[in-house]
Amino acid sequence: MIRKPIFAANWKMNKGPSETEDFAKSLLSKVQNRTFPCDIVIAPPFVSLTKAAEILGNVSSITLAAQNCSQFDSGAYTGEISAMMLKEFFIHYVIIGHSERRSIFGETDEVINAKIRKAREVNLKPIFCIGETLEEREGGRLEKVLRTQVSEGLKGLSERDLLDTVIAYEPVWAIGTGVTATAEQAQDTHAFVRSLVAEQFGADSAAKIRIQYGGSVKPGNAAELMACPDIDGALIGGASLEPQSFLDIIEKGAP
Ligand code: 13P
Repeated sequence: MIRKPIFAANWKMNKGPSETEDFAKSLLSKVQNRTFPCDIVIAPPFVSLTKAAEILGNVSSITLAAQNCSQFDSGAYTGEISAMMLKEFFIHYVIIGHSERRSIFGETDEVINAKIRKAREVNLKPIFCIGETLEEREGGRLEKVLRTQVSEGLKGLSERDLLDTVIAYEPVWAIGTGVTATAEQAQDTHAFVRSLVAEQFGADSAAKIRIQYGGSVKPGNAAELMACPDIDGALIGGASLEPQSFLDIIEKGAP
């Protein structure tokens, strides 16, 4: 298989250190001594990363992610956390450009591109989120919106940096709504996103980059979505907050 699937739990602003401890211990008891044909990533809030690392740090199939990083190196940026600081937490990935960051915190494609570059400078792997609103899809602007997000977000990356980046396609209308894209809609859009990467970086890189689907992924729909040829795993919100449900998605969705 050319692309190893990646299943990532985006906890958003849920679970402080004590709830993280409960989750991590429970997950550990379920995955210890098992191997998985996929990468498993957990993205707790910043303050819970240490606790998660303490408990899950030695599980080879599991790595940790942050949910955001600053586009700056250091200095007078109250409330921000730099990519370099995250590097000290034994984490491998950082989610960048989630639609909640774009819509609630005003992150632009330019800021997102700067964050991706900062993450790559310290060898963190970006999970770069893209996706259209319902209004954009229904208004026939799906392709234009994704084209801009992909070309601006990935601007200036080397091939190596590109291949250490994961794209997460998350239609905004499917996030936290219980409405999932059909497997056909998701596959068509993933194939389109891959074609955009091919235009920008060539067919070889496009064939290698991993593109996750996100938006109301659950144990009940994981198998159908993950069977699509251009879908390489999932970025999971609500259904990743409970260890068994997260694991069920992985078991049903992994090859
Ligand atoms: P839900 O799985 O809760 O729809 O959230 C998806 C998401 O935003 C993951 O980043």
